[in-house]
Amino acid sequence: MSLFFDRPDFGERAVLVHLKLNSESEPEDVGEFEELVRSAGGEVVELIRGSRTAPNAKFFVGTGKLDEIAEVVKRECAELIIFNHNLSPSQERNIEAALQCRVLDRTGLILDIFAMRARTHEGKLQVELAQLHHLSSRLVRGWTHLERQKGGIGMRGPGETQLESDRRMVRDRIKSIQKRLEKVRIQRDQGRQSRLKSDTPTISLVGYTNAGKSTLFNRVTESDVYAADQLFATLDPTMRRLDIPEQGPVIFADTVGFISHLPHRLIDAFRATLEEAASANVLLHIVDASAEDRAVNIDRVNDVLREIDAHALPTLMVYNKIDLMAEGSARIERDQDGRPIAVWLSALTGVGVDLLLEAVSEYLPRKLIHKHIQLQPNHGSLRAALYSHKAVLSETYDDFGGANLEVQLPESDFFRLVKQSGLKLKDLDTI
Ligand code: GTP
Repeated sequence: MSLFFDRPDFGERAVLVHLKLNSESEPEDVGEFEELVRSAGGEVVELIRGSRTAPNAKFFVGTGKLDEIAEVVKRECAELIIFNHNLSPSQERNIEAALQCRVLDRTGLILDIFAMRARTHEGKLQVELAQLHHLSSRLVRGWTHLERQKGGIGMRGPGETQLESDRRMVRDRIKSIQKRLEKVRIQRDQGRQSRLKSDTPTISLVGYTNAGKSTLFNRVTESDVYAADQLFATLDPTMRRLDIPEQGPVIFADTVGFISHLPHRLIDAFRATLEEAASANVLLHIVDASAEDRAVNIDRVNDVLREIDAHALPTLMVYNKIDLMAEGSARIERDQDGRPIAVWLSALTGVGVDLLLEAVSEYLPRKLIHKHIQLQPNHGSLRAALYSHKAVLSETYDDFGGANLEVQLPESDFFRLVKQSGLKLKDLDTI
């Protein structure tokens, strides 16, 4: 997808390393780590655990642990060692030199997955930019895989070393991507502006990775956005406009799956995706209700929402995958005032999806209309319905038995009442 980054082949044999450090206390992370590696197409041949009070400055792990890793790499013919931590460029280099095996850290791993999943032009540019930043701090030795790309006119000055020209290429590429991203961003902002102007409410799906966002998005919008049994099946926000009952048109936006400890550089890189969520009218927080650590996952998502200033947005919880639960019945959960707070459903079977639309429609602020309508003598049922909804502000009559009504009511109610009276909007003269 990009100029610099070849994806590792699928099925690369990887040795995983996770240290429990004093500063960290999240054992669940190991399961997520293994999932991430599988998501990237890696084959986990062994997980090596250890604990230390603080990382070793040179190798991150201690020398004893390094020997253990070396032994496993040799025995298992591993091609890759992946750390569930962020390594400094020199630690990565030192381990590679000592063990003669490629090393990937947590940021590198996540970037790799993002690279595989990016679908829109903007998403791809963002991933490449983040990769280049990650790479630029690591450009200290011969990057032979960069060499293939070289040879263009003006790419290498006389007497320049390999390293200097590599660095220059990366710098130039970063600049050019930043320029292109800026353009894409302006275009996207304009799109968002016109959506805001059009008053169409935006509903963003957020949730821990693998919660079922894409599946639900597809189910609701009947589109075919890629859903896979892998983490990060979604990288770019995907938008669809659709009509929901009682409300009218809304925009549904699917967003990237959240994970814990998203490195800060990535939060920056994916701000565009997340900004979409931050500017939504309503968030649907999708939860895999069948997951053992569902409470932890909810907290993780809330942490990221706080980071992007989206935690105060009106949020409806969506407990998905009830088909996997023993006592899973589709329902809307309400607070004391009868307002929906959660919906239980299965995106896969479709059970409860109608309840979700009902809840969303109740959740959105009603748009009021204020207009004059001309009713004919045979429009009596609509007139009665408008009166029973306390929507009529004033009424005058013409000489032919018709009535002119000044009405004010939620737009969705108006459309519904017109329809229930067996009329069409064009049957009414409205001002
Ligand atoms: P990311 O893009 O990684 O954030 O994932 P996502 O939240 O978009 O999840 P996705 O829709 O890709 O679903 C992940 C897996 O869960 C897929 O294998 C889906 O088929 C499965 N899944 C989604 N909804 C349901 C459900 O209601 N029931 C069951 N049994 N499986 C589901």
